[in-house]
Amino acid sequence: MRIAVIGKGNIGGSLGTKWREAGHDVVYGARNAEGDGPGGAPVRSIADAIDGADVVVLAVPGKVAPDVINQHKAALAGKTVIDAVNRIGAPEFDSRALIAEAAPQAGYARAFNSLGWENFASPLPGANMFFAADPEARAVTEELIAAIGLTPAYVGDAAATPVVDGLLPLWFALVQQNGGNRRVALRLVSES
Ligand SMILES: NC(=O)c1ccc[n+]([C@@H]2O[C@H](COP(=O)([O-])OP(=O)(O)OC[C@H]3O[C@@H](n4cnc5c(N)ncnc54)[C@H](OP(=O)(O)O)[C@@H]3O)[C@@H](O)[C@H]2O)c1
Repeated sequence: MRIAVIGKGNIGGSLGTKWREAGHDVVYGARNAEGDGPGGAPVRSIADAIDGADVVVLAVPGKVAPDVINQHKAALAGKTVIDAVNRIGAPEFDSRALIAEAAPQAGYARAFNSLGWENFASPLPGANMFFAADPEARAVTEELIAAIGLTPAYVGDAAATPVVDGLLPLWFALVQQNGGNRRVALRLVSES
C-alpha cells in the first residue's frame, strides 16, 4: 500500500515508521521536501506525496490542517483520507466536514487521534484503536491499525467521528489520574 503521511512529527513519524516496518510504501509530505524522514521513508512535497498514494494520513498541527486540505483538495479526490489531526479549540476537533467539502469523493476515516503517540510507537498488547470510517475506508483503516500493533475497534461510519473524539478527553483524564503516564490505552471487552 502506498501511504502518504502528511507531517513527520510525533504522530506522522511514529505511524510512518511502523507502516514501513510492516512493508508498506511510505512517503512523507512536508514543507521541506528533502532527505529521509523517521524510519527512513523519503520526504517529498505534500503534492508529490499525495500523488500516487492509496491512502493519505493527515498528521499536521490543527491550526494548519484547513490550509493543507484546501491547498490539496483536487489531489485528495478519490483517496482514502485518515484524519489524525485534533483541531483543539475549533468547534470540532476533526476535519471531516472540511474534507467532505474540499474533496467530496474522498473516503474519510477518523483514527490515530485518541491516544498519545507513544502508544503508536510502542503499542501496549491488547490495546484497541477505536475508529470511525466511511464504508470504503473501513478495511484499509483496519489494516493500518493492525499493522502498527493495535486492535481495530469500529464504532461506526464517518458520522460516528464525534464518538471517537469523545475518547480524547477520556484518555487525557486517564493520563492525568495515572500521574502523567501517557502509556495508557483502552481495551474493549465483550462476550462473543
Ligand atoms: N502528539 C500526540 O500524542 C497526538 C496524539 C493524537 C493526535 N495528535 C494530532 O496529530 C497532529 C500532529 O501532532 P504531532 O504531535 O505529531 O505534532 P508535531 O510533532 O509538532 O509534528 C507536526 C508535523 O507537521 C508539520 N507541519 C507543521 N506546520 C506545517 C505546515 N504549515 N504545512 C505542512 N506541514 C506542517 C511539521 O513539519 P516540520 O517537520 O517541517 O516542522 C511536523 O512534521 C496534531 O493535529 C495533533 O493534534 C497528536
